[in-house]
Amino acid sequence: MDKIVINGGKKLEGKVRISGAKNSALPLMAVSLLAPGEYRLREVPLLKDIDTAATLLSQLGVRLERKNHDIIMDSDGLNCFEAPYNLVKTMRASVLVLGPLLARLGKVKVSLPGGCAIGVRPINLHLQGLEALGAKITLQHGYIEAEAKKLKGAKINFDISTVTGTENLLMAASLAEGITILKNAAKEPEVVELANVLNKMGARIRGAGTNTVKIEGVKELKPTDHTIMPDRIEAGTFMIAAAITHGDIMITNCRPVHLDSLITTLKKTGVDIIPENTGIRVKGSKKIKSVNIKTSPYPGFPTDMQAQIMTLMTVADKESLITETVFENRFMHISELRRMGANIRVNGHKALVTGVPWLEGAPLMATDLRASASLILAGLKAEGSTEVSRVYHLDRGYENIENKLSNLGAEIKRITEYT
Ligand code: EPU
Repeated sequence: MDKIVINGGKKLEGKVRISGAKNSALPLMAVSLLAPGEYRLREVPLLKDIDTAATLLSQLGVRLERKNHDIIMDSDGLNCFEAPYNLVKTMRASVLVLGPLLARLGKVKVSLPGGCAIGVRPINLHLQGLEALGAKITLQHGYIEAEAKKLKGAKINFDISTVTGTENLLMAASLAEGITILKNAAKEPEVVELANVLNKMGARIRGAGTNTVKIEGVKELKPTDHTIMPDRIEAGTFMIAAAITHGDIMITNCRPVHLDSLITTLKKTGVDIIPENTGIRVKGSKKIKSVNIKTSPYPGFPTDMQAQIMTLMTVADKESLITETVFENRFMHISELRRMGANIRVNGHKALVTGVPWLEGAPLMATDLRASASLILAGLKAEGSTEVSRVYHLDRGYENIENKLSNLGAEIKRITEYT
């Protein structure tokens, strides 16, 4: 198992290019199931989750070829409608095959995902939505089985804004008969991107990015060629790397408009953020000011940046109240940050972070993807050496992070341990 070793205290400077967005690439890979023909996705990040999605699609009968950051897919030979337990347990986003397989084949069988490190994460809203479109759903032996001869448009009101739930419904309703209205749809940029790509393929989706999305079902869709948008969470993580090391980083291949709430928050902490032609320049200040943060669905402060901003707040000047409203158990990084000297008190889904002058390097254990990133950031700041183990979480969502950080001047290396 690999671990990352960081010798902290280096100021980060230079340029970093952001990779394609994992959470956009995953639904766009599932799109290839909707209709036969050759799809090409460009700028697909080289990540463990993408490997898992590729394995799943191959098992379903999709011909899949990877050339560096390009993936070419063709589902002409689609011959299976099952997402097995061993893949769904590795990556929950495997449930994104539910909508497209049901729409294309009239049936689908997907292992019911269990809880994960950050919360219970049920998929009841995906299933209720598909039921509203006419699917008959049964749960047996840990698997969801859904069947529908032909999906029919319906009005669906999501109780909670769900990203992959909205994505599943967008894909399924695109091939349904009649009109589907999604109320309280997720507005995340990755959802809007999916709707845009589906429209490029011949779908008729209006209102993506707002609360209400209207999908007029079409008879068929045609394949497409698409470049994955930059990963806003990776960009945000590098912005905090600049802030916490009082560095000066130019972040290229990023869309500041997707980072509005983070940029507003970082400016309040004293960070200088300068939009330039090729990206954004982030200059950390000597003194980091404490700010309060509450996560919420887009355009609110992203839950996927909560752990990273908490690390920044551990070395800020006063107290910061961080409230997590999206997932019920996304504070696993706190016990590790405390081991580095951070002063954090937790009460339910609120964490009170009192800034300390410095963090101390320590051996740490990553518990989930974004928690891993927060520990790497803490290691960049800390005095002495920090070792982050269970790096496989990090590899699910950050392409080559140690090389990117090392190019910015960090003293960081990966050590492969053979057991
Ligand atoms: N929820 C339900 N029922 C459902 C669906 C969701 O109760 O049927 C609840 C969840 O338990 C959670 C909230 O609704 O409390 C929001 O969950 P959502 O469905 O939006 O999350 P997701 O679609 O499973 C995606 C991202 C996550 C990101 C969340 C929130 C992908 C592949 N994953 O997950 O990304 O945290 O939206 O923005 O898009 C990550 O990249 O590290 C990551 C976890």
